[in-house]
Amino acid sequence: MSVITKQAAPGTHSRGFVSEDDLSSAIAASHALADVSPNAAITAGQIVPGHVAIIMDGNGRWAKSRGLPRIAGHREGSRAVRRTVEAAIQSGVSWLTIYAFSSENWRRPAGEILDLTGLLRRYLRSEVAELKQSGVRLRFIGDRGRFDSDIQTDLAAAERDTETNSRLNLTIALSYGARAEIAAAARAALEAVRTGCLDAGGGQESGEDVLSQVAGMPDPDLVIRTSGEQRLSNFLLWQAAYAELVFLDVLWPDFDQAHFNVALKEFSRRERRFGARKD
Ligand code: FPP
Repeated sequence: MSVITKQAAPGTHSRGFVSEDDLSSAIAASHALADVSPNAAITAGQIVPGHVAIIMDGNGRWAKSRGLPRIAGHREGSRAVRRTVEAAIQSGVSWLTIYAFSSENWRRPAGEILDLTGLLRRYLRSEVAELKQSGVRLRFIGDRGRFDSDIQTDLAAAERDTETNSRLNLTIALSYGARAEIAAAARAALEAVRTGCLDAGGGQESGEDVLSQVAGMPDPDLVIRTSGEQRLSNFLLWQAAYAELVFLDVLWPDFDQAHFNVALKEFSRRERRFGARKD
């Protein structure tokens, strides 16, 4: 985690992206954010989470409320991803993990899956060059083997092309499910015990070490979920054990830097004890 020691320039973080009315109602509806100002900006002394993970929810409702097809919500959602990456970079967040497609999303109608995979294909082809230019390192978690082979090739290329970047580590969860991830790590640990590479009697901590390597990234400090729903939906269940959770009543396609800053501000107000005591 880092602490911002400089006051951000007025207006750079919160205004110009969303109307104050919109943001005020989003804040009012979120019990976690009752007294956060809509003019949220990174301020002196604010603790900035090192790793922010986001459950991007509400694309369908956004489209439905406008009488548009669901794909319109997903398309607008990918624009919100772009804004969020910029917001994370500007805030000094080092790791950003976004839930773009869950292992359960394969149960959606074939047409929507085609739309979502098509959007992913276009995202990879149109955004990676700019992400690379901006110093973003891309990684993907989840079962990429379920996607078409051209997408798998583009995923590998995106990881390879950005592997020397370090300004922001952007991890996109695709065909991802936390329970499957934990089960795979447990199977790997059992196999390591069977082949003598791991001591079965290593105690709780060594077991946790083995499982903590599941995604090769630091644990998220803050998990944000949009759309007003309040659950983790099989996202980073192991890694989020001590994450602060912030639920925002804004639909993902409307999410922008101002909402991101509101969540960061709320995170900074939380006291994290990790089960220990301060006194
Ligand atoms: C949840 O909204 C969102 C998804 C299942 C897909 C998320 C995809 C994007 C944000 C765009 C693509 C991103 C990339 C990186 C290419 P929902 O459809 O469940 O919404 P609802 O709950 O309102 O129906």
